[in-house]
Amino acid sequence: MIASFEGSEDERLRTLAQSLARHLHAFATEVGLTQREWENGIRILTETGEITDERRQEFILWSDTLGLSMLVDALANPLPVAATESTVLGPFYVPGAPQRPFGASIAEESAGTPAWVHGLVLGVDGEPIGGAELDVWQNGEDRLYAVQRAEGPEDHLRGRFTTRGDGSYAFLAVRPVPYTIPADGPVGKMLGATGRHPWRPAHVHMIVRASGYRTLTTHIFDRESEYLDSDAVFAVKPSLLRDFVRRDADDPERPESVDGEWFSVENTIVLAPL
Ligand code: BEZ
Ligand code: FE
Repeated sequence: MIASFEGSEDERLRTLAQSLARHLHAFATEVGLTQREWENGIRILTETGEITDERRQEFILWSDTLGLSMLVDALANPLPVAATESTVLGPFYVPGAPQRPFGASIAEESAGTPAWVHGLVLGVDGEPIGGAELDVWQNGEDRLYAVQRAEGPEDHLRGRFTTRGDGSYAFLAVRPVPYTIPADGPVGKMLGATGRHPWRPAHVHMIVRASGYRTLTTHIFDRESEYLDSDAVFAVKPSLLRDFVRRDADDPERPESVDGEWFSVENTIVLAPL
């Protein structure tokens, strides 16, 4: 079986096909795979295909919940130690978020306690990167991303910001909450059957792009969130934990559009060169 790929003219394809076959056979042999288990495996793959469409990508959810997405990210994106670490993209990123000015809110309706997220975008030598783009998205207190809601503004809780000449950026988010990954399909069945939970710790997503630098896909995790030590998709890295600092309504630094209690989060981002 392995030798059947010898004729492949694409050397990389030959390597991938032969190694996959070797590992698949080793897996079946190691566990003594039964006919019934093989049939169940085929059924799970079929259901995964059936539930996948433009809005739902169950194959990526398998990759995420089996830790493969994080492994591929680590293999494909080795970063200099000084650079901000990357983590999963997730299924709720939708390109084309609106461009918003420095300090603007990403919430188009009430969505939770305001959180002022601010910091610098720098290179590994500490140089400020002006004109960098931060593409951010998050869930609200209903636990949902805009793309998951049939109704409601499509640009809710997402936006693109550009750093100023000194590398600074700021936007008004809300304090994120933990939420469950989509668990009504085959991945959810796997989690239930194996005694795993579907929760992710609270986080804000961002993709940071700047010319001459590597694009960074990452999160800000709330250091006080539940589930930091059992993320359903294994995406937590200690260097990405941030403090959501509680601020009073009468704090003189309170952003103009905020009434009542709010949080601030300092988050400096360091990009690796190309
Ligand atoms: C997310 O953070 O949006 C996410 C990542 C992986 C799987 C499901 C959700
Ligand atoms: Fe998320």
